Amino acid sequence: MRIRKAVIPVAGLGTRFLPATKAIPKEMLTVVDRPTIQYIVEEVVASGIEQIILVTSEGKSAIENHFDFNYQLETHLAQKGKTVLLEQVRHISNLIDIVSVRQKKPLGLGHAIWVTREVVGNEPFAVLLGDDLVVSETPCCQQMLNLFADVQESIVAVLRVPQDQTHQYGIVEGQSTPDHKRVVVVDRLMEKPSPGTTDSNLAIIGRYILRPEIFEELSRIKPGHGGEIQLTDALLALTRKRTMYAYEFEGDRYDAGDKLGFLKAIVAFALRHPDLKDAFRSHIKEVAAGL
Ligand code: G1P
Repeated sequence: MRIRKAVIPVAGLGTRFLPATKAIPKEMLTVVDRPTIQYIVEEVVASGIEQIILVTSEGKSAIENHFDFNYQLETHLAQKGKTVLLEQVRHISNLIDIVSVRQKKPLGLGHAIWVTREVVGNEPFAVLLGDDLVVSETPCCQQMLNLFADVQESIVAVLRVPQDQTHQYGIVEGQSTPDHKRVVVVDRLMEKPSPGTTDSNLAIIGRYILRPEIFEELSRIKPGHGGEIQLTDALLALTRKRTMYAYEFEGDRYDAGDKLGFLKAIVAFALRHPDLKDAFRSHIKEVAAGL
């Protein structure tokens, strides 16, 4: 089975980024020259996926507009002969087929995935969370699709974090596999475990490949951590029925939903930007010399 669809939940309120996110969705905050959501969409496109399902809520129409055609803007740019800008604007609208599903109540990540069940249907799909930006040679999503092509089972992307940060993540416990040093067979998952409740430091970052059986588990689970329907709890239920893998992806991950993480992402992307990297590198050196 091939993965054709990616779900990107964008319904969250972005409270970690107030006041910036009072009137602007957090996914529209700019890293260098594009909103963070565009990096996620570009990762999906680069991985060969055909359709994106956005899970939205009230106040998120700027995201849909960003990936839609803007007739007025395009006509204006065409009339003024601004062809380079026109191409850039058109490129965004042409990236991929995007549909939206509304999450009517903020009941948690698990619920956000569950509301896509009719649109996803009975096939495996990818999930990418907008806060997690990954810089890598092969897109993180593509790395996971390559593994899925072999195993045909659900996969969560993981990262080793310092033990004192495990309570901020979903944590995976499992057995390493002799043939593949980056792959762990999952035994247990916990959403934001209290300190001291697990020895594992394998943290889930926002990339998943899920088999459609996850919807059945999501329909059954009760609210978990924070009173929310947690995807992690549905994954745990699924491990009792099918094998699940954790995959230590290759690349650097930035938490763009956190103020410091966002700044680090800007630096990382600016240092890779073809037009800016040289001047920005010199500037960073100057700043560092003055510290
Ligand atoms: C979500 C998941 C969590 C995961 C994290 C990665 O939590 O529930 O398991 O570790 O994303 O970013 P959130 O950050 O939305 O609270």
